[in-house]
Amino acid sequence: MSAAFPTAESMVNRTRYPIDTPESEAGTALLEGCRQEFESAGLCVLPEFILPDALAALAEEANGVLDDAYFCDSTHNAYLTDADPDLPAEDITQRQEATFVGSVAYDHLPPDGLLKQLYLWDPLMNFIGSVLGKKPFFRFADPLGACSINVFVDGGQHGWHFDESEFTITLMLQQPSEGGFFEYVPGIRGLDNEKELVGGVLEGKREGVMQLPFTPGTLLIFGGRQTIHRVTRVSGATPRLVPVLCYAEKPDLVNSEQVRKLFWGRAA
Ligand SMILES: [Fe+2]
Repeated sequence: MSAAFPTAESMVNRTRYPIDTPESEAGTALLEGCRQEFESAGLCVLPEFILPDALAALAEEANGVLDDAYFCDSTHNAYLTDADPDLPAEDITQRQEATFVGSVAYDHLPPDGLLKQLYLWDPLMNFIGSVLGKKPFFRFADPLGACSINVFVDGGQHGWHFDESEFTITLMLQQPSEGGFFEYVPGIRGLDNEKELVGGVLEGKREGVMQLPFTPGTLLIFGGRQTIHRVTRVSGATPRLVPVLCYAEKPDLVNSEQVRKLFWGRAA
């Protein structure tokens, strides 16, 4: 355990984000604002969530485990479904997007490390659950995917897609030398002209495409099943590092073996 940051609460900017006092006036106001932002925009952005010194220590810790990253280099369609041979070639589900991303599994994080402390901190879990309107709310029980670190090295990217999971929590930890922008188009899923709009995005139309700047220290709560998104290609020597914190509405929930093999190259 780090002497400088004995607890997760010393890492979080609780002056700006009093997440550990949800009953207080400031805590209630924060929650209300976040809930509204998530509902209207499909995501909630919390800049400067991690304090600068803690951010530096978290980045150092993450850079120390990069050798344990497993890299997935593949293609997929925007819905992460298998291609249907009965559909015509021009159907949007036939379009393949490229993804090259590494991930450091949960069991490779330092056991008493800072990221783990943050993930295991109940006030953070409870805050996120409240923003999402989920109760009860649990940490994800997957031994590899509960909390992992996404690693985008030179050439890394994540093609356009909708997530399988309803929501994703990420921490912007280390900005890459170049590229690695998070882009998204809110409000497409479920529209009558969804296919047409998704087709336009995949063809490179920029209408409606939003871009989030990479600001280290920002926590992002994102409804990825409803919102198509991607990470643009990274280049340069400094990798883009983004811890992913997973939660679930049920205890004991885990990934399928298929997903574990895809992202971490092993089942357990
Ligand atoms: Fe995603």
